[in-house]
Amino acid sequence: MRITKSLLVITTAALICLKATADITFEEHITPILQNHCLLCHSESGISFSFENPETAYKFGPAMVSAVEERRMPPWLAEPSHIQYEDDYSLNKEEIRTFTQWGENNYARNNALIKVKNILSYTAQNSTFKSDKEVIVNNGNSYLPNQNKKDDYHCFLMEWPEKEKTYITGLRAIPGNAKVIHHLILFTATPEIAPHLRKMESEEEGSGYECFGGGAPDRLGNPSVRAALDKLEDGLSRKINSGINFLSHWAPGMNGIQFPKDTGIPIEPGALIIAQMHYYSAFAPGESDKNSAMHFITKKEVKKPGFFVTITNRKWLNSKGNKTMVIPSKQEASYSITENFRKIQRRVLSILKIKSKEIKNLELHSANIHMHSYGKAGKVFLDDPLGNRERLLTINNWDLNWQRNFTFHKPKVLPEKDLKDYKISIECEYTNPWEYPIYGGFGSNDEMCINFSFIAVDKKIKKTL
Ligand code: HEC
Repeated sequence: MRITKSLLVITTAALICLKATADITFEEHITPILQNHCLLCHSESGISFSFENPETAYKFGPAMVSAVEERRMPPWLAEPSHIQYEDDYSLNKEEIRTFTQWGENNYARNNALIKVKNILSYTAQNSTFKSDKEVIVNNGNSYLPNQNKKDDYHCFLMEWPEKEKTYITGLRAIPGNAKVIHHLILFTATPEIAPHLRKMESEEEGSGYECFGGGAPDRLGNPSVRAALDKLEDGLSRKINSGINFLSHWAPGMNGIQFPKDTGIPIEPGALIIAQMHYYSAFAPGESDKNSAMHFITKKEVKKPGFFVTITNRKWLNSKGNKTMVIPSKQEASYSITENFRKIQRRVLSILKIKSKEIKNLELHSANIHMHSYGKAGKVFLDDPLGNRERLLTINNWDLNWQRNFTFHKPKVLPEKDLKDYKISIECEYTNPWEYPIYGGFGSNDEMCINFSFIAVDKKIKKTL
């Protein structure tokens, strides 16, 4: 038994070392990695310069090797984990080593293969994506991103066209001008808060409104704006904020997103879709975005309704007033919150309008940390009834621009009866380089610590007599 084990170790070690540096060539070893891990963004339809022509791609050799070795590319924030994430395009250790070896081999080419493999191509695997609803951003009017800002975050409201309750099961965006769109984040707003958002939008110059931290207008973080709203109706500013739910992120070149099998996110008639567009004009100064569209797949009924549950401490968003989240000048700070699943269940029930006795399990499908520019690291943990702690997501090098939803290949199934003993925890770490303190809030110079997790309800099957 012992012998077999050590033999196994030797064989695996031998396999890993099998590729000699002198054999590594662009055509044979690098192009397959580009195809599978890079073309998603580095293609004509993607957000960055194209590697589809291998001769052009080859010229980036030294830049590729350093970008890969320094883990800048591909940009995938989640650290390798025991959890397998969907659509994971990160590189494993061996693939990273292949780039290093290729550099050491002086970016060698394989003459025999140069002529054969002369095309790389990215085809979005969208053939199964058949959307049935379309909404157009900014009513089809063009929008010129703010040219004075490197990054312009602008939110647009879109009316949800359905007259009955529906479930969104998938979506994608069709960029009007992919050259100026870095990425976008979609939110839904409940029918109750829709009129208030429309009003706040109309009060800002031009169409849409400035936003940063989420789908809410930046101004919602301003104490005098909050006070005016709360005067209209007690707690209105908080109500507007909690009526906005995360729906999805999307970046040009990405496939359509389909929510996990049998699940869907309910949306009521009169609701709004909010598109937070992140415009980046450096590659196309002076160009506008026009006719960007969102395509949705909808269903009248789904087996497992769900939505993105926001986990945060809402008090943090008002830290200039209550000082609950402060990152002192020139210092590091960390904030964390733990939430019990019985409490989460109550929120799930009230949003999905389901009774607790109908629930068999809650399915936890994803994790997605959201911080702003001062974020450094973030973690999401699940504690089970036996006291075991599982890491759902670890981000050691936070980068605002590459935040995304990390969907687990297999959901965590939490039985209804045990929910009180399951907990989710999030931890956010920050560094403040400035001479002044940074506070929790909505603005681009404020901070947040939020996790959005997709949670679906697996309902009990009704017994028929
Ligand atoms: C999710 C999208 C995405 C993927 C996947 C991706 N890139 Fe990039 N890459 C970008 C963007 C966008 C830029 C432009 C700079 C920026 O915004 O960070 C870039 C820039 C670069 C640069 C130049 C800047 C630098 O940091 O050196 C190189 C080289 C590069 N990518 C190589 C790669 C390689 C090699 C892969 C695959 C192993 C890859 N990229 C995968 C989006 C991506």
